[in-house]
Amino acid sequence: MSDYQFLKPYTFANGATVRNRIVMPPMTERSAFENGIVSNDEIEYYRKRAGGVGIEITGCANVSELGKGFEGELAVNEDRDVPQLARLAAAMKSRGAKAILQIFDAGRMTNTAILRGEQPVSASAVKALRPDSETPRELSEEEVETVIKDFGDATKRAIKAGFDGVEIHGANTYLIQQFFSPHSNRRRDQWGGTLDQRMNFPVGVVEEIRRVVDKYAPSTFIVGYRISPEEIEDPGIRIEDTLTLIPNLIESGIDYLHVSLNRVWQTSLNNKTDTQPLIEKIQNVVAHKVPMIVVGQITKPADAEKVIEDDFEFAALGQELIREPNWVQKVVAGDEDSIRYELSPSDLDELGITAPLWDFLNGPFKKTIHITNA
Ligand SMILES: Cc1cc2nc3c(=O)[nH]c(=O)nc-3n(C[C@H](O)[C@H](O)[C@H](O)COP(=O)(O)O)c2cc1C
Repeated sequence: MSDYQFLKPYTFANGATVRNRIVMPPMTERSAFENGIVSNDEIEYYRKRAGGVGIEITGCANVSELGKGFEGELAVNEDRDVPQLARLAAAMKSRGAKAILQIFDAGRMTNTAILRGEQPVSASAVKALRPDSETPRELSEEEVETVIKDFGDATKRAIKAGFDGVEIHGANTYLIQQFFSPHSNRRRDQWGGTLDQRMNFPVGVVEEIRRVVDKYAPSTFIVGYRISPEEIEDPGIRIEDTLTLIPNLIESGIDYLHVSLNRVWQTSLNNKTDTQPLIEKIQNVVAHKVPMIVVGQITKPADAEKVIEDDFEFAALGQELIREPNWVQKVVAGDEDSIRYELSPSDLDELGITAPLWDFLNGPFKKTIHITNA
């Protein structure tokens, strides 16, 4: 038995105990049915990866109809989604992992075709600086309140389905980040304007979810929050803004903070002279008031160990767990030499990789997923 620190359990302040510090971060397989209901292929995909990790997080699930970002995405916006979500949660928990549902709203990061003729919505009518993006419609104040409630209703469904927690997707340029960003949020009402007012939506979502959890969930239910610390747009989110937001999120009752980065130790995208990794700046503010999950090209046991030695609570392995579902078990068995760091097209069935996921991996992830003969 190996004595890596990352194999040690962790107990949250609410009493939830996780068997080790390895997390499968949210990664959509784009394999839900057209109406967002979980497919059996997805259930098997998560079951295959639930045997070793401490926490397994699903790909994003939209909380509202207009919040759908892509085809094959999970949905949690209707009660009819619950029975299959319950089967998914049961499969994830059956082998000892904590099962967390990532909940999100795409905001402007979608299009009229995906929304079956409806115009995308966002904080303001500003389109993303990406090819083919569409100009969204600004949500009315009443609609903003409704979306916040949608996050609460989605959480109630996650509780009903038997998940151990939810992760609020406040990262990767989706709606919650769009409200926090001075690029996408040009409002002058209570939901925009100053930095303080731009925090009202993310904090409002956390407070609503907390209210639902306190009322309906077991005391060990976990509420996580995922952030992207910076944007490159000008104006855009800077690390100082994020360091101001974080204490407010903690105050509002999150149980963990998950920092979304492409490379775990990366430094500022905006201030190239600053050599301190972003996660260290964030750690100084979080100061262990809640645990942190960090992510980004962590693949080898030594990479995960460094994260824990540097006093972060959890290391998430994304693409590595797609390639190697039994990563933790192989480490525990002292069989590290057999850990796969490449993805062979002949292993797709064994790995439970569906056709839509395979297509997606061959797109934006082609350089990092390491396909053997590509
Ligand atoms: C196929 C795929 C799907 C992803 N889907 C999501 C998602 O649904 N939600 C999210 O927050 N991040 C998503 N991500 C980002 C991952 O959670 C993670 O941050 C990223 O892959 C970097 O970690 P890695 O280098 O260990 O793969 C996805 C990544 C991949 C490869």
